Amino acid sequence: MDAPQFAPVTAANWPYPRHIAHRGAGKLAPENTLAAFRLGASFGYRMFEFDVKLSADGRAVLMHDATLDRTTSGTGRVDALTLGELAQLDAGAWHSPGYAGEPVPTLAAIVRYTRANGLLCNIEIKPVPGRETETGAAVALDARSMWRGADVPPLLSSFSEDALAAARLAVPELPRALLVDALPPDWLARAQALGCVALDANHKVLDAQVIAAAHAAGLKVLSYTVNDAGRAAELVGWGLDGLITDAVDTIFPAG
Ligand code: G3P
Ligand code: MG
Repeated sequence: MDAPQFAPVTAANWPYPRHIAHRGAGKLAPENTLAAFRLGASFGYRMFEFDVKLSADGRAVLMHDATLDRTTSGTGRVDALTLGELAQLDAGAWHSPGYAGEPVPTLAAIVRYTRANGLLCNIEIKPVPGRETETGAAVALDARSMWRGADVPPLLSSFSEDALAAARLAVPELPRALLVDALPPDWLARAQALGCVALDANHKVLDAQVIAAAHAAGLKVLSYTVNDAGRAAELVGWGLDGLITDAVDTIFPAG
């Protein structure tokens, strides 16, 4: 195994800002496209959450759904097409005419843009069903090579514990967050078993007690998708460390 490329990210040396733009710029631009990242950055966002899965030929691309139908000009499963075929699709016209022709970005293209502009990343590993282990390992290995020489590594997160386990095996030093939509009673044990540095939960299942329990165990806490400014303030008051939002035009990063 290669020597670790990044110093371990811990709660004590947490390098990430609190405000994180969801899928680039929420709903203001076509999700998971470079255009969305540019728009999110124009509102002052310095960190971006996005969804990554693999093409038929094992290349990491940004896409939320398992199928292409909702957000591209294509149809069917994302992993039925090669990268070359995905590159022919329009991932912007579904949103609004001004974004027509926006391509499906590769992870490599997003890394080029974010690193060139000093922006940080939260890669949500979102495998198509059945490719969890392969996707977790491939994304972690890609991240290690694409962020070579960077001061701050991307934060990996996933609802798939298999994907997180595979990412850990492939590149142990990349920080991981366990995503949960509901809060299982053993959430802390699950996060710890995967060597996670953070819990990343639907804001509806978070309260002051959960955040305090995570902090007491040495975990940071992120939350999605927080679009109401009052709720954001409440969560921050409880000590929330990472606030993933669509509302990049109304919730502004501090500082
Ligand atoms: O990573 C947090 C959030 O993006 C998880 O939900 O469905 O928007 O990917 P989803
Ligand atoms: Mg996501």
